Amino acid sequence: MEKIIDFINVNRDRYLSELKALLAIPSISALPAHRDDVARCGEWCADELRRIGLQNVALKPTPGNPVVYGDWLGADGAPTILFYGHYDVQPVDPLGLWESPPFEATVRDGEIYARGAADDKGQIFMHMKAIEAHMKQNGRLPVNIKVILEGEEEVGSTNLDTFIGENKAALAADVVVISDSTMFARGVPSICYGLRGLVYCQIDLRGSATDLHSGSFGGAVANPAFVLAQMIAGMKDRGGHIKVPGFYDEVVPLTEAERQAWATLPFNERQYKKDFGIPKLTGETDYTTLERTWARPTLEVNGLLSGFTGDGAKTVLPAVAMAKISMRLVPNQDPDTIARRFEDYVRKIAPKTVELTVTRMHGGKPWMTAYDNPYVQAAGRAIERGFGKTPVFTREGGSIPVVSTFQEVLGVPAVLFGVALPDDNAHAPNEKLDVGYFHSGIIASALLYDEISRVAK
Ligand code: BES
Ligand code: ZN
Repeated sequence: MEKIIDFINVNRDRYLSELKALLAIPSISALPAHRDDVARCGEWCADELRRIGLQNVALKPTPGNPVVYGDWLGADGAPTILFYGHYDVQPVDPLGLWESPPFEATVRDGEIYARGAADDKGQIFMHMKAIEAHMKQNGRLPVNIKVILEGEEEVGSTNLDTFIGENKAALAADVVVISDSTMFARGVPSICYGLRGLVYCQIDLRGSATDLHSGSFGGAVANPAFVLAQMIAGMKDRGGHIKVPGFYDEVVPLTEAERQAWATLPFNERQYKKDFGIPKLTGETDYTTLERTWARPTLEVNGLLSGFTGDGAKTVLPAVAMAKISMRLVPNQDPDTIARRFEDYVRKIAPKTVELTVTRMHGGKPWMTAYDNPYVQAAGRAIERGFGKTPVFTREGGSIPVVSTFQEVLGVPAVLFGVALPDDNAHAPNEKLDVGYFHSGIIASALLYDEISRVAK
């Protein structure tokens, strides 16, 4: 491994300049205007997989964006890794808040700033370079590897479940490896053993055929903005509990062991509030901040739109109001069941004065794994060697819908090892990745393949 680590150290600058090319492609899956960019990004990734020595590289079409596939299966008898990552990114608005253009990666104070730097292009590139280092130095990998890179993760992985279902045999593996999560904190590398799931809905209300003069009609005609605000207010009680009937029925309670383990993590609530400019924390009573974000379900308003929002004042009774609402789910909540209960509740609390439309958007199942499996332990050793520190075990509040599919459809355990930081601004302006962690991540990934090669199948 020395030779490989030396090679990675010598190539440090080249990795950054290559990563910049990947970050320059605006592969925003949510915006139809960027469809070609997403396709171009898939091609870039496929070319890169060929360059680093993978075989059978292909863009696999789906009804949406293609899945990039590549493999190297020359390690007879050794375990097979299924590496998953995503090459699509989130939209960049509000653009005005970026300190450098989102698709012109810029290094400042040891961080590389660009949309996708942390989520997830920087982290997939880390593995590409780890594979390349093995191939360049040894002409082979110590393990078999199948790489799949998705172009629709940020829009709910709509076509990936079908793709996996249709390619079960081709995707057979011993372990799934994913780097699309964060370390617990700066200097605290971690392995993630749980993710929340998601249900995402849009609510539209209409109170009249067109906007109306609020003087002539106000008081007699329902204001959908007001009605929507009242409906949203009725979704939680004062203690932060979600009032959708049956919402908590399947929630697996936190174990005492988890609560105790999390209490020992180096989490400083004061610093957290300071880092993110939060005046005072909130949430369900009787739970800590980590418990609230990792192990409890939520209901959030992601966006609201109604009426006049420009400069000045306009006396208008808006005809329509819209809210985007999502719920993060924990084991064993099922997205379909929760979506149904939510919709029933919304219909019940909507007054007859408005026309209601509820549209279900994407979603995903929660995921959790026991972390005593040999692959997770192997990852622990690799991170320890790469970062010089023993990793901690964490759950995350975010979602990667495909992880539960891998577990359920392929029956394969997953190792989630991320090098982004919680304040890397994923999904926000000024997304970044620590250049040092990116580099250590390449070394740790190279070591991970080595460690996994020694796990008895
Ligand atoms: N990389 C994130 C998931 C993540 C976030 C893991 C934070 C760990 C910590 C991923 O790209 C993401 O943002 N997923 C979406 C999924 C959704 C669109 C179905 C999410 O969590 O909002
Ligand atoms: Zn991601």
